[in-house]
Amino acid sequence: MITHRSYAVEPWTVRETELSLDVLAQSESVFALSNGHVGWRGNLDEGEPHGLPGSYLNGVYEVHPLPYAEAGYGYPESGQTVINVTNGKVLRLLVNDEPFDLRYGRLHSHERVLDLRRGVLERTCDWSSPAGTRVRVRSTRMISLTQRSIGAVAYEVEPVDCHVRIVVQSELVANEQLPEADRDPRAALALQSPLEPEEDFASGHRLRLVHRTRNSGLRVAVAADHVVSGPEDTTTSSESHPDLARLTVASVLEPGQTLRVEKLVAHGWSGTRSLPAMSDQVDAALAAAAHDGWVGLAEQQRAYLDDFWARADVEVDGDEEIQQAVRFGLFHVLQAGARAEERAIPAKGLTGSGYDGHAFWDTEMFVLPVLTYTAPDAVAEALRWRQNTLPAARERAAQLGLRGAAFPWRTIEGEEGSAYWPAGTAAFHVNADIAHALVRYVAATGDEDFARDTGLELLVETARLWRSLGHHDHRGTFHIDGVTGPDEYSAIADDNIYTNLMARANLLAAADAVERYPKEAERLGADDEESAAWRDAAAAMHIPYNPELRVHEQSAGFTRYQRWDFAGTRADQYPLMLHFPYFDLYRKQVVKQADLVLAMYTCGHEFDEEHIARNFAYYEPLTVRDSSLSACIQAVIAVQAGHLRLAYDYTAEAALMDLEDLEHNTRDGLHIASLAGTWMALVTGFGGARRAGNTLEFSPRLPEKFSRLAFCMVFRGRRLRVEFTQQTATYTLVSGDPLTVRHHGEAVELRPGAPVSHPVPPQKHLPAPEQPPHRRPNAR
Ligand code: BGC
Repeated sequence: MITHRSYAVEPWTVRETELSLDVLAQSESVFALSNGHVGWRGNLDEGEPHGLPGSYLNGVYEVHPLPYAEAGYGYPESGQTVINVTNGKVLRLLVNDEPFDLRYGRLHSHERVLDLRRGVLERTCDWSSPAGTRVRVRSTRMISLTQRSIGAVAYEVEPVDCHVRIVVQSELVANEQLPEADRDPRAALALQSPLEPEEDFASGHRLRLVHRTRNSGLRVAVAADHVVSGPEDTTTSSESHPDLARLTVASVLEPGQTLRVEKLVAHGWSGTRSLPAMSDQVDAALAAAAHDGWVGLAEQQRAYLDDFWARADVEVDGDEEIQQAVRFGLFHVLQAGARAEERAIPAKGLTGSGYDGHAFWDTEMFVLPVLTYTAPDAVAEALRWRQNTLPAARERAAQLGLRGAAFPWRTIEGEEGSAYWPAGTAAFHVNADIAHALVRYVAATGDEDFARDTGLELLVETARLWRSLGHHDHRGTFHIDGVTGPDEYSAIADDNIYTNLMARANLLAAADAVERYPKEAERLGADDEESAAWRDAAAAMHIPYNPELRVHEQSAGFTRYQRWDFAGTRADQYPLMLHFPYFDLYRKQVVKQADLVLAMYTCGHEFDEEHIARNFAYYEPLTVRDSSLSACIQAVIAVQAGHLRLAYDYTAEAALMDLEDLEHNTRDGLHIASLAGTWMALVTGFGGARRAGNTLEFSPRLPEKFSRLAFCMVFRGRRLRVEFTQQTATYTLVSGDPLTVRHHGEAVELRPGAPVSHPVPPQKHLPAPEQPPHRRPNAR
C-alpha cells in the first residue's frame, strides 16, 4: 500500500523521484501505457524486479471452467481471463559481468516520469554495481496512439567514470512466470503458461514469436525490430527459441560514449487468421513503424495528444493535486478507449489483470460519458462492440427465459462471466446502461448513421428484455422484481429504483427509435404494437417511495430493513464484503455504492430539488463507498444538494484513487471508472454540465478552494470552452455553428470566437449529512 504521496505534484506529468520496491506493483499500474489495443504495464525495462509483469492485447483471453459446489440451471460454465501475452518490452542489461538489477548495488538516483502531453514514460537512473561500476541508463517508452499495434522503447546506457563492457539483451518473452495470485476475489486468476508456441524467428535485428492460447484458440504474434547505435566495434547477434527471441548487443563504452537501442514492437492477434498471415501482419506493422522511425512515432504521439487536450483539457486553479489527477485520469481514460475499436473497455483498461480483465457497466456509465464529450469516435466503437456481442446476449436472454438481449455483467468476448449470479446475471441494469450511453452519444454528436445502424438494434433488444422481465400488476403498475441494482450490498430486490428509472428511459428511447426508423425496425420485427407496449410499461413503471419519510426507496421495502450496525463495525472491517457474509448485507440498510443517488444523476429530471436533498441526506449515512464507483457520483449530487465542501472531498477521493492507492489494490490495475469520475465530478458536478435535448446547460457552483475551473468539450461538431470563477462564467464557442446553451437556466447565445460572460449566482453552502463512522471522505 502506498502510504505517502509517491509522486511529485506537477500539472502535466506524474513524476516518481525515488524507486520503492515495496510499491513497485502500484507504480506499474500508474505508469502503464496503452492505446486500448495494446497495454504495457510500467514494468522496469530489465524485466526484474517486478510487481506484476503485464503485456496485454485487448480481446486476448483464456477460458477456464467455473466450478460450482451446487449446480444450477443457467450458471455460466466457463469464465474468461485476460492473459499476459508475449512481453516485448524487456531489455536486459549486463554491466561488466554483473546484471543490472536494482535490488543490488547502489542506486544513486532513479526517476520515472509519465508525460501526459507527449504520451511517453521516461526513466533515468544512475547506478553502481556491487563491484562498483557506475552507469547511467535512460529509457523512453511509448505505446503508439496512431499505429495501434506498436510499442516502442529507446534505451540508452553510458558509463560514468571508467570504460565498461555492456551487453543489452532485447527480448520477446512468452509465458513469463507470474507471481502467485492473492486471495482478493477482485484480482485475476493469472493463468500460468497460457501460450503454446507455434513459430519463433530471429534474423539480423528482427525477432518474432507466434503462439496460440490453449483453449480459446487465439493466435498471438509479436515481432520486434531494432536500430542500434554505439561505438564502431559494437556487435549484435540474434536467436530464437519457442518462448524467447533475443537480440544481443555487445559493446565496450568509454565515459562519454553511449549505446542506444531503439526497439519497435508490433503486436497482433486473431481467432481466425493463419500463422503465415499473422507473421506477415506483425512484420508489416513493423515496416510501417520503421518507416516513420522513433522520431516520427514520437511526433505523431505528441500531435495526437495535442489534439486530444485541445478538446478535453480541464484546468483547476486552487488545488494542484486535483489538477494533476484529472489530467492523469483523462490520459488513462483515453488510453483505455482510444484504439479499442469494437473491443471492450475493461474496468482496469489494459493496466493490470484485476477483475480478470473484464468489462462491466463501468464502461457505459463512467468511461463513455467522458469520451462522449472528448473523443466521441471511441464511444461509437465501444458501443459497436456491444452490438457485435448481441448474439451472445440474445442467447443468454433465451436461456433465462426472456426476450431480447441480456447483456453480461462481466465479460471479455460477450458471454456472461459472472459465476455469482445474484450480483451478476441479476444486475440487468447493464442493459439500460448501454441504452443510456447510446442515447447520450447520439444526442451529443447527432450521428444519425449510428442511431439507425447500431442504436436502433441495441434499443429494441434491450427494451424487449425489460418488457419480458417486468410485469403489470392488477392495478396496471409495472414492476421489475428480483433484480440487483448498482448497490451490490442489496441483491434480488423488487423494483430497484435505478433499474426501473433507467429501464423506463430505455423503453421510451426504443419506442422513439422504432417510430423514427420504421423500415429498419420492421427488419428487427419491431412494430407500433410492440413499441406501444413499451410505452405502456414505461408510463406505469413503479417508483418506490416512502411517503412517511418523504424519501425514495432504493428498492421496494428498503427503508423498512434493519440498519447495518455501523457503530459496531471497525475501520479494518471495510470493505464489508471481505468481512461479512452477503446474506447479512443483503437484509440490512447498508449501501455499497451510489444507487438511488446515481439515479438522481442519470435520471435527474425525475426528481425535484427537495427530494434530491432529502434522498441524499437519507442515503449518505448508509453508504460505505466500498466501490470506487461511488465517490464521484456522490460528489455530483452533493453539489446539487448544496454541500460543496463534501463534494470537494469526494472529488479528491475519486481523483486520488490510484495516485494514492486509496483502495489498496492499484497493483491489480487502475480504477478507470473512478479516474473518469474525476472529470464527471468537476464538469458535471461543479460545472453542472448537463445535456438538455440537443443543447447543453451549465450551473457552475465552485467550492471555496477553486478560484477557477475551465474545461473544453466537443458537442455536435463544435468545440466549446467553458471557464468559471467564483463570480463569472465565460462561454466560448471555439469552432462550429452558433449554439444556444443555458447558464443557470438562462439562454446564452454563442457565436464562434466571441466569448460571452455571465455572473455566477451566490452559492448555497448547506451543512452536509454524516457518513457512516470510519467512512467519511478525507477532509482536504
Ligand atoms: C462494483 C461494480 C463494478 C465493479 C467493477 C464492483 O466493486 O460494485 O459496480 O462494476 O466493481 O469496477
